[in-house]
Amino acid sequence: MRTVYLNGEYLPENEAKVSIFDRGFLMADGVYEVTSVLDGKLVDFDGHAVRLERSLTELGMKNPISKEDLLAVHRELVSLNDVVEGGVYLQITRGAPADRDFVFPDPETTPCTVVLFTQSKPGVTESAASKNGIKVISIADERWGRRDIKTVQLLYPSMGKMMAKAAGCDDAWLVEDGQVTEGTSNNAYIVKGNRIITRALSNDILHGITRAAVLRFAKEAQMEVEERNFTIEEAQGADEAFITSATMFVNGVVEIDGAMIGDGTPGNVSKRLREIYLDESMKKAI
Ligand code: PDD
Repeated sequence: MRTVYLNGEYLPENEAKVSIFDRGFLMADGVYEVTSVLDGKLVDFDGHAVRLERSLTELGMKNPISKEDLLAVHRELVSLNDVVEGGVYLQITRGAPADRDFVFPDPETTPCTVVLFTQSKPGVTESAASKNGIKVISIADERWGRRDIKTVQLLYPSMGKMMAKAAGCDDAWLVEDGQVTEGTSNNAYIVKGNRIITRALSNDILHGITRAAVLRFAKEAQMEVEERNFTIEEAQGADEAFITSATMFVNGVVEIDGAMIGDGTPGNVSKRLREIYLDESMKKAI
């Protein structure tokens, strides 16, 4: 049984209980982060801590836990649960007031709820998806307008995954005004020659921590990076396509709406970026 963290306590997972009035439960009023663990160490903890702070600020929530304490909790959970490969999930909600109310509760009397738990995924770096690539469908992006805030409102992304599954695919790319925004839980890229194309940062997409690292590595490896919109049609005609996230790292996309990309296997650019990303991440993990 896992040991999890809830509001300052380490507990067996079946003893960690949150109120039915918690605003995370009633209103999806909360934010989250997923930090990957490789070789028992945290990948890009700093990046996740900075984005967490930003998400909280955008929602008018005061961070209830210092970065140092947060790091200590992450490390303690990884150690208590013997996680070698996998991740740490963190969620902070606006807490549990005495009743349901649209008005935010007073933070002085209603403290935030802080939850962390680990997910062990041995062999995740050698997954079938990473070897074979994934197939995606495109669907309309029907999420809210502040996708730069990492909120726990994941119903539409979850529905998107189900639509992909029903179509015999692995994931969905979201399309707004004819342009790809991102994947349900990852950032989306295409490759033309030596050029990597991905949507520029704005409120329309999550500012991926993996994205930032991968674009930096790409530039260091003399690859060209173009941050601009692209359509599904352009992606279908690209040399390669891939996604990035803390859980999938860099992963090739080999089919989009039934059209094969390249030769139907992960392309050289995405394979090379995955290798660099994993190598560099392991070196810098803490
Ligand atoms: N998802 N875009 C969306 C909509 C996401 O949900 C995620 C991450 C990303 C990639 O961000 P990062 O590189 O920081 O993981 C992009 C996490 C992994 C999840 O929901 O499980």
